[in-house]
Amino acid sequence: MSDFTSNFWSVFVTALTLVGIIGCAVLLWMAGRKKVVSTADNTTGHVWDEDLVEMNNPLPRWWVWMFVLTIIFGLGYLAAYPGLGSSAGKLGWTQKGEYEAEVAKANKELEPLYARFASMTPEAIAVDTQAKAIGERLFMNNCAQCHGSDARGSKGFPNLADGDWLYGGTHDKILETLQKGRIGNMPPMAAAVGSPEDVRNLSHYVLSLSGSPHDSLRASLGKSKFGACAACHGMDGKGNQALGAPNLTDDIWLHGWGEAAITAMINNGKVNQMPAQADKLTEAQIKVLASYVWGLSNNKAQ
Ligand code: HEC
Ligand code: HEC
Repeated sequence: MSDFTSNFWSVFVTALTLVGIIGCAVLLWMAGRKKVVSTADNTTGHVWDEDLVEMNNPLPRWWVWMFVLTIIFGLGYLAAYPGLGSSAGKLGWTQKGEYEAEVAKANKELEPLYARFASMTPEAIAVDTQAKAIGERLFMNNCAQCHGSDARGSKGFPNLADGDWLYGGTHDKILETLQKGRIGNMPPMAAAVGSPEDVRNLSHYVLSLSGSPHDSLRASLGKSKFGACAACHGMDGKGNQALGAPNLTDDIWLHGWGEAAITAMINNGKVNQMPAQADKLTEAQIKVLASYVWGLSNNKAQ
């Protein structure tokens, strides 16, 4: 309920709940006191099927007590757990807290399993059958939605199995990527490049760097404009892993290739984020995952 700007709904729900419970209690009390008009033989006077009559007896005691206990239980429950409007309840129970406690318990149980990998080198983990199975499962649950179940990525989401890296493909760099996340930031560059025609020419120059189909006249005209890009992509266009600036000479394209895609990149720039995993996965899980990902392009046996 923290999304609401006033506590109106909290008060409303609390009042409605309490009025409901008190209403039940009053109804029960009144029903116990008030006797329905009945005939002299203690029936209600209703007759069905010729001789079936309805007696006018009070509710059995135990039945009444069940109502009373239900009301007491309801009040106790509402005092202990969240339920009355935005009240948190005396026990301080939350769904989130219960989930986190369960995750912590499961992680504790798994500790002995991961302990075996603690002293192993990344290379050894990458070829260990059990670690690979764990790595694959972790990948399916936490990474596949973006990088694809075969880790080969898609537009905007890098291929993790091709040996081409934005931020570096050593085990340590991959580990750093997973722990802290990454934000790739290419600013809009059109103003620094010049006219739309200059941007087009520069796009053809960029295409020429990887030997992709291009207009060589435009490419030669665009070459001098590449200075604006060199700070990040390097004078030779081979990129800079410290910035996550991709190699533009290798014909591997994260955001598509061709004049239109590259012109759009220069005009609009791009901010692309890999979410940090340190608060989602344990250190041991990240270590196994980093080895698994490293192995995708380094395990020759695969
Ligand atoms: C919400 C989508 C998303 C999820 C989930 C995700 N990633 Fe990423 N990941 C990205 C994006 C986007 C990039 C590229 C960042 C950039 O362009 O700067 C990236 C980059 C990377 C890189 C760097 C690649 C390089 O070339 O340097 C690695 C390694 C990586 N992810 C591994 C993983 C692993 C392992 C997981 C699972 C724990 C994971 N990612 C989960 C979106 C995601
Ligand atoms: C401030 C640093 C910076 C500058 C300057 C810069 N870029 Fe980038 N560029 C990046 C980064 C970082 C990415 C990767 C974005 C991402 O993570 O998705 C990128 C991505 C690209 C891509 C997409 C590559 C692919 O694989 O799809 C192209 C093309 C590109 N830049 C061209 C240029 C050109 C041309 C210039 C000069 C006009 C330029 N960049 C200037 C940082 C820069």
